[in-house]
Amino acid sequence: MNLNDFGLGTAALGRPHYINIRKEKAGPFQLENFKALGKQVFEAAYRKGIRYYDTAPGYGLAEALLLDWVKEKNDPNLEVATKWGYVYTANFDPKATVHEIKEHSLEVLTRQWNFSQQLLPYVSTLQIHSATFETGVLQNQSVLNELARLHTEYGMRIGLTTTGHNQLEVLKAALDVHINGKPLFEVFQVTYNVFDQSLLAAKEELHAQNKRIVIKEGVANGRVFPNVNYPNYQQAYQVLEKLATQYNVGMDAIALQFCRQTMEPFKVLSGASRVYQVNENVKAAEICLAEAEIAALKRLAVDPELYWNERKLLPWN
Ligand SMILES: NC(=O)c1ccc[n+]([C@@H]2O[C@H](COP(=O)([O-])OP(=O)(O)OC[C@H]3O[C@@H](n4cnc5c(N)ncnc54)[C@H](OP(=O)(O)O)[C@@H]3O)[C@@H](O)[C@H]2O)c1
Repeated sequence: MNLNDFGLGTAALGRPHYINIRKEKAGPFQLENFKALGKQVFEAAYRKGIRYYDTAPGYGLAEALLLDWVKEKNDPNLEVATKWGYVYTANFDPKATVHEIKEHSLEVLTRQWNFSQQLLPYVSTLQIHSATFETGVLQNQSVLNELARLHTEYGMRIGLTTTGHNQLEVLKAALDVHINGKPLFEVFQVTYNVFDQSLLAAKEELHAQNKRIVIKEGVANGRVFPNVNYPNYQQAYQVLEKLATQYNVGMDAIALQFCRQTMEPFKVLSGASRVYQVNENVKAAEICLAEAEIAALKRLAVDPELYWNERKLLPWN
């Protein structure tokens, strides 16, 4: 069983509301309880052997909470990947209409890195949070130069995360970014799961160039679990459920193992928001899917445009 290739994503642990399909609404927000729950999930992941933690200033207090926790753990094997480019604006208010604002400017990079660098020596990776063509970040020479400087000065692995139906195009554009003749981006955090399998087309190239592939949204924000609101996935649920029963794990473990076996990534992120979810997610490492089962899961892929239109409709719960 290899738990080395799992990481814990902290997007659901730093703010009470997150994009998901959770049925129960978040109760009244109590800061101390919320922090305690976050640390319990960090601990649960650690107990399971996870040493890679992905965070961002845009995730409310997640980065600060992780900073506290890694200092307490004091384990040199811990590795943190952070991001820059989203500013959390909801202030834990359940009625907030704007939860985060994206700004890929040098000013935000500088300000957010000023905080994130406190995570040294654990922080190894600095990613553009949700790089898109619209923000022009891949052509912003002052930002790219600054990222190259942070790589040289602090050894940061520079990366980016992608979101949206054109993830592959963004990724390909990023592969072409060179500073002083050297490729800038080493880490590619990309959405990949049984429904959006578009990343498969770039797998060979990313591996050939020795890039770190980090998979996010491996359980499609919870959409891999049976849900009457998604009539289009009812057949997919039958396939996932049959395998889950056969291997005596949850459908999340089947979905995450599909990601591991087909993409062979550096890490697959668990997006667990509760301790039991971490424990269930990592059961993926206990199983090995047969070729025919992988083939059946590959047939669950949907058009990325449809996938992302659906993702845009998910509420902040
Ligand atoms: N643009 C970006 O850079 C970006 C975007 C998205 C994610 N990420 C990173 O990737 C990580 C993972 O992505 P994600 O959390 O968005 O998506 P995900 O891993 O596909 O979904 C996580 C959600 O699935 C549900 N879940 C997981 N295991 C479960 C289980 N055993 N039983 C029931 N529900 C379960 C939980 O929903 P409930 O909380 O509702 O229970 C959890 O919050 C994030 O934490 C973050 O680090 C980055």
